[in-house]
Order: sequence, then C-alpha cells, then structure tokens
Amino acid sequence: MTAKPRILLTRRWPRAVEEILAQRFETVLNERDVPLDAAQLAEGLRNFDALLPTVSDRLPAPLFKDGDLRCRILGNFGVGYNHIDVEAAKASGVVVTNTPGVLTDCTADLAVSLLLTVARRAGEGERQVRAGEWEGWRPTHMIGTKVTGKTLGIVGFGRIGKAMAKRCHFGFDMDVVFYNRSKVAEEEAQRFGARQLDTIEDVLKESDFVSLHIPGGGENRHLIDAGRLATMKRGGYLINTARGDVVDEEALIEALESGVIRGAGLDVYEAEPQVPARLRALENVVVLPHLGSATEETRTAMGMKVVDNVTAFFAGREPPDRVA
Ligand code: DGY
Repeated sequence: MTAKPRILLTRRWPRAVEEILAQRFETVLNERDVPLDAAQLAEGLRNFDALLPTVSDRLPAPLFKDGDLRCRILGNFGVGYNHIDVEAAKASGVVVTNTPGVLTDCTADLAVSLLLTVARRAGEGERQVRAGEWEGWRPTHMIGTKVTGKTLGIVGFGRIGKAMAKRCHFGFDMDVVFYNRSKVAEEEAQRFGARQLDTIEDVLKESDFVSLHIPGGGENRHLIDAGRLATMKRGGYLINTARGDVVDEEALIEALESGVIRGAGLDVYEAEPQVPARLRALENVVVLPHLGSATEETRTAMGMKVVDNVTAFFAGREPPDRVA
C-alpha cells in the first residue's frame, strides 16, 4: 500500500472539511490557529507533499528557492492568491489552486452591508446606543445618505462585481456603472443592470458609491491612489471587499480626514491584521475584519473545493481550479 500524501493545513478549517481531508490524506493541522512564520512555511514546503495556505500566509519567491522542496501543490483556501508568488511556485514545479465561485454571493452580500452601514451611519449609531449615549429621536439625529436611486460604480466586473451590480440595481434601484479591463458584451452587462464605462476615472466621477472587485497585487497595487480619490464625487463613498493593497491606505485616510470623500466601508487592509489607528479613529469609516466569505456555508464550500483540487492532483488528474 502506498503512503498517503502528507498535507499541512496552515490554520484550523471547518470541522467537516478537516475530517474528509484526514480520511484521504495524512494531515497535520496548525492547532494553534495563528499564522505560521516564514521559517515554518519553508519547513512545510520541505516536509509536506501539499500545503494548504490561506490569505494570511505569505509565500514570497524566496520560499520557493530551496532546491529541496517536497511540496507539489499549494491548495489555497481562498479565491485571491496574491499572497503567493505563483510564478516562483510554478518555476519550482509547485501547482497552485484556488476556490473560485463559492464565495461570490457572500462577498457581494458583505459589500452591500458595508455600503448600507456606512451610508446610513449604522456603525456610529450602534456605538452610540451601546455607549448609552443615545438621547432619543429627533429630526436631525445621525443623518446619513439615501442609497436607493443613487449611482454605484464597480471596479472589476468579474463574478463578485456582477453579483454586487445585481443586488444594487435590482434591490436598490441604483444606476450601476462599471470599469472592467476587457470589454463586456452589452447584453451581459444589462443582465446585471449595469453599464460599462471606458475608464476608471469615468466611473469614479459618476458614482456616489464606488465598490472594488479586482484582485490585489501587481498592477492593481494602489490603483486607488490620492489622485483617483480626488477624482471621486465630493460626498462619495468607497467600499473595499477586494484586497487592501488596491487602495493607498495613507491617501485614503487623508481623503477621509479632509472630506475629499464622505466615508468608506472596508473589509480588507494593506497590512492585515494591522489597521492604522488613524483609520480606526474615524467615525465615517466602517471597519470589518476580512469577513467577506465568513459564513458556515461558504467556508465549508471553500474547503471542499480545496479537497477536490488536492484529491484530483494526487489521483493524477488536472485540479479543477488550477491557477499555476
Ligand atoms: C478570498 O478568498 O480571497 C477571500 O479574501 C477570503 O475570504
């Protein structure tokens, strides 16, 4: 009988998924459920046939330089994989897979809740009630911005961007415009109640709310910088459930402090889990701890996708969600 592949899970996973993995493979779990450091990840790459990392594990090029890697596949628990240097992995013969599709709805749902929460000042209101500081209803109390009928600008019209468009157009009667690197067929855009514009600037200028749905890293790093924030409508809001590095965080803080934009709803940050104190101090910002996919159903589905990918790989088949 051939030995089962040895697999390292860098964090705790939904129990049902851990159990299936343990039936199929020899699994080792990071029981402490805190991020492994570079040395531990390098050791994992040397000693395991597969590593199953998450968004909070950094796997840069130097980790793949060791000529003696045992690892053949990185089954990433997540759709975004900018924390992995996929070119370096590929050059070392390590396959990389991700988990597309299964977190589309939950991430779009969370983007909608950030949009509503920041527009209607629900976070501020909740803090006020909890602090025992609410002085009762009055016509001028905690006035926010109406969402229904406003313009939403989407940057990135992939699965999640489309799901966001659908929710906001058909749910809140919003006029939805979007920027996407490649041309989207008009009928496809219409299906989601959206209209494609030529440039990011066009989208920023027209929109009351801008929601980001593009991958992080590479040329998207600081795509939303001080110049583009200044291009946004006065009184506009920025929603980011994509990746922290898509936005220049320092420039965002300045835009929020100076009133260049009115508010932001954020689920992701440049140096997670660090969130700058200046950002946390702002009342016009909603800050969540990267919860986009955090539902029981979605996290289990993400885990099952990883199971499918590594199972296919070790059975000699093409993993369904191979990215490198
Ligand atoms: C992903 O899958 O890339 C998400 O950011 C994790 O929820």
